[in-house]
Amino acid sequence: MQVIHTIAELRQALAGQATAFVPTMGNLHEGHLSLVHQARAAAGAGPVVASIFVNRLQFAPHEDFDRYPRTLARDAELLAGAGCDYVFAPDEAELYPEPQGYKLAPPTELADILEGHFRPGFFTGVCTVVAKLFNIVQPRWAVFGKKDYQQLMVIRRMVAQMALPVEILAGETSRNAGGLALSSRNGYLSEAELAEALQLSATLKGMIARWSAGERDLAALESLAMERLSARGWAPDYLVLRRQRDLGAPAEGEALVALGAARLGNTRLIDNIEV
Ligand code: PAF
Repeated sequence: MQVIHTIAELRQALAGQATAFVPTMGNLHEGHLSLVHQARAAAGAGPVVASIFVNRLQFAPHEDFDRYPRTLARDAELLAGAGCDYVFAPDEAELYPEPQGYKLAPPTELADILEGHFRPGFFTGVCTVVAKLFNIVQPRWAVFGKKDYQQLMVIRRMVAQMALPVEILAGETSRNAGGLALSSRNGYLSEAELAEALQLSATLKGMIARWSAGERDLAALESLAMERLSARGWAPDYLVLRRQRDLGAPAEGEALVALGAARLGNTRLIDNIEV
């Protein structure tokens, strides 16, 4: 496996090949590696590329851009073991040699709700870097985790509306034995917080159970979940039940997803569970 830092070298290495791509911000865990396995299966004999780039554009000034762990050497070892062929690890000057004035802004009805409401500009930052990475890697397939459910949807729509020649593959969320979704940000949690963190998925499951049991007062169902998590010392941003196809209000007979984001101590966690 080769670690490449420049666009020119990567383009030369990949020229004309049907490539599978896994974009990441590094500090990798089993969840990322399962996306790499999926990319490996899609690519067959073709190359698999993972990018590692902590994208300043998707962080608000008060967020964890500076303390986001940069662990390239360890990440490269893990990726080599998972069957990755190239790691693309550009520095900021390589990806953003001048201030990125051209940006790709997703439509507000999808990008300004839930994550986008609490992290204004987040999805513009994500779309801009992902579109740029797609232009650089020119992948035939790109794999994104369902853990970032709304991000996956935003990227799928971007690819469709911009007619980008890439097939988006969705990776299932990897969880620990207790049900906690694996996340690079779990590394910020203390031992006690790690144990408590299971309550996020447990709360989402509780919401689904209430809906399945016939509760149809959505506002009551969601505010009960907010109260329960708050009472345990969390600061939830949202705990909602939505339909899978567009994150609109749930309706009878539609596939649903429970989504949540909440701060535990200094760490903001997100999760979702499909029904
Ligand atoms: O999901 C992530 O790690 C990031 O949002 C992504 C897709 C790599 C873009 O920076």
